Amino acid sequence: MSALLQTHALCRHFGGLHAVRDVSLNVGQRTIHSILGPNGAGKTTLFNLITGAIPPASGTVLFDDSDVTGWTPERLARRGIVRTFQRTSVFLELSLCENVALAIRSHRGLNYSVRLSRATDAAVREEAHQCLRSVGLAEKAGLRAKALAHGSQRALDVAIGLALKPRLILMDEPLAGMSKGDRHGIGELIVKLRDELGLTVVLVEHDVGMVMSLSDVITVMQNGKVIAEGPPCVIRDSAAVKSAYLHGSFAS
Ligand SMILES: Nc1ncnc2c1ncn2[C@@H]1O[C@H](COP(=O)(O)OP(=O)(O)OP(=O)(O)O)[C@@H](O)[C@H]1O
Ligand SMILES: [Mg+2]
Repeated sequence: MSALLQTHALCRHFGGLHAVRDVSLNVGQRTIHSILGPNGAGKTTLFNLITGAIPPASGTVLFDDSDVTGWTPERLARRGIVRTFQRTSVFLELSLCENVALAIRSHRGLNYSVRLSRATDAAVREEAHQCLRSVGLAEKAGLRAKALAHGSQRALDVAIGLALKPRLILMDEPLAGMSKGDRHGIGELIVKLRDELGLTVVLVEHDVGMVMSLSDVITVMQNGKVIAEGPPCVIRDSAAVKSAYLHGSFAS
């Protein structure tokens, strides 16, 4: 399987603390690749390095065989790497459609001070509807974002991410604080992103059961390092993972 995203020996430290050390990942096209690990393992820092929020001390990030190390988040987004669940990107007073349309306009470099032709405006709105349809929110397009329940707000985040036409979506704890029913809905959406839209998803999530059921590949980190990697069945049986991190919580 060809890799869409690769990291080679990625390192980042904060003072004397090695938050990410020598992390090499191979994320295949059209896969759900999860990063598991206890609090402080370095998962979010790894996301920050991949998405350009902070630069690595050393190591490289390759996307689609190009070296994108040190690129800004905006440039990476234009190239196809998007991070979701940054709730700040949702404008609560605007409708769902307007929220997504805003992301489409900014992606295309069209800003609000420029009056759009009717045809362009209609095309943007149609595209926004398509993004909302992909996440199951088309019927709520006219509602204000603040009227949405928690689970649907997360789905709206994904729709806003889709507006950027990504190939790779990184999600940091998308299920945090959600009810069981909402978790299931977001789980189905993640699978749909892979199977119907052909996207690659890199997921950080503490819900081990969901990670086991959704993922093609799991990388386990501890103290900034990769301690195990493989498909769920291998991770479930890994003695290193059990003793170092999960203490038997895969048993169920
Ligand atoms: N900006 C920063 N300055 C200093 N230390 C940091 C910074 N960001 C992260 N760290 C430290 O780096 C280590 C890894 O943190 P990180 O947030 O990547 O862990 P995580 O695996 O995402 O944990 P969690 O599961 O709790 O979200 C932690 O010890 C954390 O305190
Ligand atoms: Mg984190």
